[in-house]
Amino acid sequence: MPVSVRSFAKINIGLKIGPRREDGFHELLTAYQTIKLHDVVRVSLTRGSGIDIRCEDPRVPKDESNTCYRTVERAMRALKANGRVLVEIEKRLPVQGGLGAASSNAVATLLALERALKESLTQAQRLQIAAEVGSDLPLFLLGGTVLGESRGEQVYPLPDLPSMPCIVVTPNVGVSTPRAFAAWDQKLTAPDSSDRMSELGLRLSAWLSESYSGAPFRRGRRENPLLELVRAGIKNDFEEVVFPEYPELCEVKQALERASARYASLSGSGSTVYGLFASNEAARRAALKLQKQGWTAQVTATLTRHEYWKRFWM
Ligand code: C5P
Repeated sequence: MPVSVRSFAKINIGLKIGPRREDGFHELLTAYQTIKLHDVVRVSLTRGSGIDIRCEDPRVPKDESNTCYRTVERAMRALKANGRVLVEIEKRLPVQGGLGAASSNAVATLLALERALKESLTQAQRLQIAAEVGSDLPLFLLGGTVLGESRGEQVYPLPDLPSMPCIVVTPNVGVSTPRAFAAWDQKLTAPDSSDRMSELGLRLSAWLSESYSGAPFRRGRRENPLLELVRAGIKNDFEEVVFPEYPELCEVKQALERASARYASLSGSGSTVYGLFASNEAARRAALKLQKQGWTAQVTATLTRHEYWKRFWM
């Protein structure tokens, strides 16, 4: 019997890009937020050896470049396990869409493989394998709202924020993440970006300390804390280099804002643009409006850490 799991997507609630490091990666500061949209991953184990990746979507690589493949290789070695591993990916999320689908698939595979083997890695081993395979993997070992630092792989669980209705639009353009980072390097000088990183760090710590202390942000009724986080002044730096190259992504953001999104932003380096809404009704109305304008808009919601783990195993 295969072990089946839901492999949820993420959005970035703001993303600050810092200086390029000696290893070629960039310092990052971002808040990741898992959402309900997901792929399904099935892992099974048979006699023999090797790793077999299956997915009907031709854009998903089936060889050792696949994040699931690389994760299985490392996990089998760490557990000194034998057998042939079959990973089936039922693709519903966009490929290379800024929703972290490939990273999420890899973490889903790792946890399903442990269950199939009836073996357990420690959380430290899982985090290490995840970070080796890609910067966006470790967040999926936490779920919910997650602070990402360093190159994005150092993750800290943030307070679990209530779910918010969300619309996801992924226009059919492929944005290359390394190219977007390179465009950012050309735009900004390193000392500049260090200053901006520490400024955001200060704003985030102010948000966190107020969140944990329970102090009200403003008089009267508290807003959804997710919106308060957004208003800590975080925006996605990739917008500055991706929007000029792909103006339709900026158009989607503006369309979401006009359709009453409380906050709209590019996710990661795109091409997904999302909007957060005050109510399900507002999100449904906005999706209809965007669909009439010709965009493929999906209504979903952010996923708390509690719900992430409750729904993870199928
Ligand atoms: O870690 P991941 O495989 O997702 O990174 C893909 C590419 O994105 C890297 O090879 C690098 O060019 C770029 N990157 C970066 N800084 C980061 C994360 C990724 O420059 N923090």
